[in-house]
Amino acid sequence: MNIELLHFNCIDSTNLEAKRRIKSGAKLPIVIVADSQTAGKGRMGRTFYSPDSTGLYMSFVYKPETDLANSVTVTSAAAVAVVRAIEELTEHSPKIKWVNDIYIDNKKVCGILTEAVTGEKTAIIVGIGVNITTEDFPKEIEDTAASLNTTVDKNDLLKSIVSNIIKLINGLPERTFLPEYKQKSMVIGKEVYFIKSGEAKEGKVVDINQDGALIVETSDGFETLSTGEITLRVK
Ligand code: BTN
Repeated sequence: MNIELLHFNCIDSTNLEAKRRIKSGAKLPIVIVADSQTAGKGRMGRTFYSPDSTGLYMSFVYKPETDLANSVTVTSAAAVAVVRAIEELTEHSPKIKWVNDIYIDNKKVCGILTEAVTGEKTAIIVGIGVNITTEDFPKEIEDTAASLNTTVDKNDLLKSIVSNIIKLINGLPERTFLPEYKQKSMVIGKEVYFIKSGEAKEGKVVDINQDGALIVETSDGFETLSTGEITLRVK
């Protein structure tokens, strides 16, 4: 597959640039990558710390061939793609913290923010940020964030992530990524706290379903946690 690669030294956010490109009718798929971001976006309105040249900040942008419903699982497929790439290029064995964070030794090294553009120009933006050699994280995340801390080549990492995403996207309707996702999950079988609709609850994660939703057994029965505004903490 021929994919255009757009590189920026510094940009507000590769996901925002993706939206601008989609709006102006760019031919998809494209990959947008930046050495640094001034307004890197995370989930739930958070920012993603994106200092110069120490991480991979990228957006893979494509037009979904099947319905958008299949695309809800693209974040989970992208998480598997990142794990595969890190395993291929480093000595690490990363784990996936539902739904979209990649952890090594209980610290977050990568976050994924998937956004859908609907309407006439339907597109999916898979934004991925990997801390490669970042040190000195902001105070709020200094206890939870980490880097790969290896000499991995950023372009190799980009190439491997993109080629694995493409492979896994083709299997989205059949959920071919799911067994691998579950195998790499760091939450299945774990006791967790979560906040759903403003209410704090706890339970044990028993499975991840076909839509990538988490099945948690609580004292009141089973809860299905879909992606979105859920905060999850492993006990
Ligand atoms: C999260 O951890 O909540 C998701 C973080 C996603 C960060 C990446 S960096 C590249 C892309 N552009 C953005 O603005 N965000 C994503």
